[in-house]
Amino acid sequence: QLACVPEKHKRSPLNQLTRTLLRGYDSGVRPVQNWTSPTVVYIDLILQSILNVDGKTQSLTTCIWYRQIWTDEFLVWDPEEFDGITEISLLSDAIWVPDVIVSEFVDEGKSPPIPYVYVNSSGLVKNYRPVQAVLACKLELYAFPFDKQNCTLTFRSWLHSVQELDLALWRSAEAIASEQTEFMNDGEWELLSIPSHYWQLQQAGGEYAHIQFNVLIRRRPLLYVVGLLIPSIFLMLVDVMSFYLPINSGTRVTFKTSTLLGYTVFRVNLMDELPATAVTTPLIGVFFAACMALLMLSLAKSILAIKLLHHGETEVRQMSVSAQLLDHYGSLGQSFAESLFTTDVAQGKWLVLCAKVDRVLFRVYLFILVMYTSTLVLLWLSWGLA
Ligand SMILES: *[C@@H]1O[C@H](CO)[C@@H](O)[C@H](O)[C@H]1NC(C)=O
Ligand SMILES: *[C@@H]1O[C@H](CO)[C@@H](O)[C@H](O)[C@H]1NC(C)=O
Ligand SMILES: *[C@@H]1O[C@H](CO)[C@@H](O)[C@H](O)[C@H]1NC(C)=O
Repeated sequence: QLACVPEKHKRSPLNQLTRTLLRGYDSGVRPVQNWTSPTVVYIDLILQSILNVDGKTQSLTTCIWYRQIWTDEFLVWDPEEFDGITEISLLSDAIWVPDVIVSEFVDEGKSPPIPYVYVNSSGLVKNYRPVQAVLACKLELYAFPFDKQNCTLTFRSWLHSVQELDLALWRSAEAIASEQTEFMNDGEWELLSIPSHYWQLQQAGGEYAHIQFNVLIRRRPLLYVVGLLIPSIFLMLVDVMSFYLPINSGTRVTFKTSTLLGYTVFRVNLMDELPATAVTTPLIGVFFAACMALLMLSLAKSILAIKLLHHGETEVRQMSVSAQLLDHYGSLGQSFAESLFTTDVAQGKWLVLCAKVDRVLFRVYLFILVMYTSTLVLLWLSWGLA
């Protein structure tokens, strides 16, 4: 019964160990016995998800699992003395931590604070934490929606030169590059790989160690192909088909105007979907503008053909009217029916001529359209398959 009551005076081994380790510990001093030996900080990185790619601010929001591991020569103990404890968690505020930062961070987002680090009996400190970060990244959006992005994360110590603080990779570069297990692979972006390399930069009075990760991601274009390209292509096809409406029926211009109007509405609605950049327009934006221009061109052509038709008709009618007047006041012998017949024949001929002109214009239009489409399709294919 007495054994159930916690012993207040005797500290637990965990408590004892923590007190022993932190007694006289100065968290402001780099934990090495010999000050000339550098502290090597091992870095590891797992990409968990891509939250946002913003063309306007040229930034990438990601979730990464970041790990840094180093040896603290003052946090060493003998597990035999402390009830066999080989690992212990300590408050990260209580011990020395390296000032490794990422140069591209523009905003350290909503990273949950992890107050502890894990230390084992040989002094190895593991500092694991999830980081949600907004990275500055030069985005190439010209090929949208078939684009690939290459964003870099450069880890470095802001203050310590390589003589004091050196960096290294915890796992092999190949293992980090091909790590895909934690990546949320169902979003818009597909992770290609994360190559990394180490380099030193000569800067004001010292060498600084850098480790650079290149996050290579590719957009999945299906959503945009279905939502943007295919409706646009359908409207263009409808427009091409409207050339088979007879020119003298008068519905063609109305039809084409409605197509143009429909296209305008479609474009206004989907303008938000296009990534906006200040400098370059994605090629797909040019594609939409060019489709609109082609629709206008086809409308203008139809108007021209109809104008030609009506111009001809009035001339033919005038001719026949003067013929009738001549008939009426001149020789009264000729019949009215004959002049009507001439008018019909002239009109029929004119109609045939107009149809011919229309056909030629249609072929020119079709040629322009096919050239334009095949150029774009080739470009997009080369981007999509590269
Ligand atoms: C510190 O390390 C350097 C070389 O690594 C060595 O020459 C020097 O003697 C060491 N100093 C002490 C106090 O151990
Ligand atoms: C501490 O961790 C490192 C890395 O996991 C390991 O190599 C080392 O043996 C561990 N030390 C002890 C005493 O367990
Ligand atoms: C990504 O960018 C870095 C530098 O910005 C460059 O060294 C690297 O070759 C690029 N990688 C690819 C695959 O384009």
